[in-house]
Amino acid sequence: MEGLNFKQIGISFKGSGSYVPDQILTNQKISQKVDTSNEWIKSRTGISERRISSLGDNVTEMGYKAALAAIEMANWDIKTIDLIVLATSTPHDLFGSAPSIQAKLGASKAVAFDLTAACSGFLFALITASQFLKVGGYKRAIVIGADQLSSFVDWNDRRSCILFGDGAGAFAIEATYEFDNLIGFDMRTDGERGCFLNLPSKNNKDSIIDNIDFLSGAFSPIQMNGQEVYKFAVREVPIILEKLLKKMKYTSDEVDWLVLHQANQRILDSVGDRLKIPKEKILSNLEKYGNTSAATIPLVMDEAIKNNRIKQNDIIATSGFGAGLSWGAALIKWG
Ligand code: COA
Repeated sequence: MEGLNFKQIGISFKGSGSYVPDQILTNQKISQKVDTSNEWIKSRTGISERRISSLGDNVTEMGYKAALAAIEMANWDIKTIDLIVLATSTPHDLFGSAPSIQAKLGASKAVAFDLTAACSGFLFALITASQFLKVGGYKRAIVIGADQLSSFVDWNDRRSCILFGDGAGAFAIEATYEFDNLIGFDMRTDGERGCFLNLPSKNNKDSIIDNIDFLSGAFSPIQMNGQEVYKFAVREVPIILEKLLKKMKYTSDEVDWLVLHQANQRILDSVGDRLKIPKEKILSNLEKYGNTSAATIPLVMDEAIKNNRIKQNDIIATSGFGAGLSWGAALIKWG
């Protein structure tokens, strides 16, 4: 950080980008692997298909492509980027994948690090990056959400494997002097309920030499109590959004778009009903991509921005939620 500039008071949104792998896994194809059906998956989740990484599609590659698209939209010189925050739970390198993205981009001035908060990750990363900009040290940041959960799904567990897919999304955000388009935010964690959704380490005991053991590093597949996670989401997400709207003195009528973490269409519908936000204002693309974890919010927003649905100055109420358990909300003005 080169000398603080206390005149910076907020952030603005300059660009968005996204990327999904080409390989499509439809519900029909999943039913060749586990005892399920297109009808069951579609009616319980709203998902029809999801993208699955194949060789060459890892979090670094997907995150890089999403970031590059966001930078192109922002029309930035890559060398002016100060900060890259990558939200992911499935890095290509456990020591962090953000530095590889920084190198691939050629963003030599930027400091780059990973942040892990599962499906709340993008929102937490956006809020984290915006704090660095508001403090006044950095001007331009790229926030990326990228995940490759297909590598950690138990493809024999029909209760969870139907939900997840791979992808990446990114925003380019910039420090501002006169306004703040991150109007307000809130973040929550309840580790007591963390056992409902995990991707736990699996340490097999081995020995280095006689009498000195070590635990090998590996992970068990995703373990999920679907009903508890569902109950958590439909209870906590409306509460955090309602409180945030009230605190920032907004009514739900003033919200142009409700952008929720794309976990299940029934969760989106239920939260919309609670907040009295009509279906036409609720962005959804989980039919095509399923739950891409940290990527869902920038992925669905990038699609809506590129299709001219989200326009400059639109008000967006957004919420991410998932493992941790963690959840958060942000009120945004796009632009
Ligand atoms: N195909 C067919 N049947 C299935 C199935 C599948 N893929 N998965 C579960 N079932 C069966 C169950 O075995 C159960 O059968 P039983 O009554 O004979 O025991 C029945 O369907 C109902 O199971 P249940 O777990 O109650 O289903 P549900 O309505 O809760 O739907 C989820 C399951 C996973 C779709 C739903 O709980 C959910 O979306 N939860 C939130 C998960 C989530 O979003 N996680 C990520 C958060 S970031």
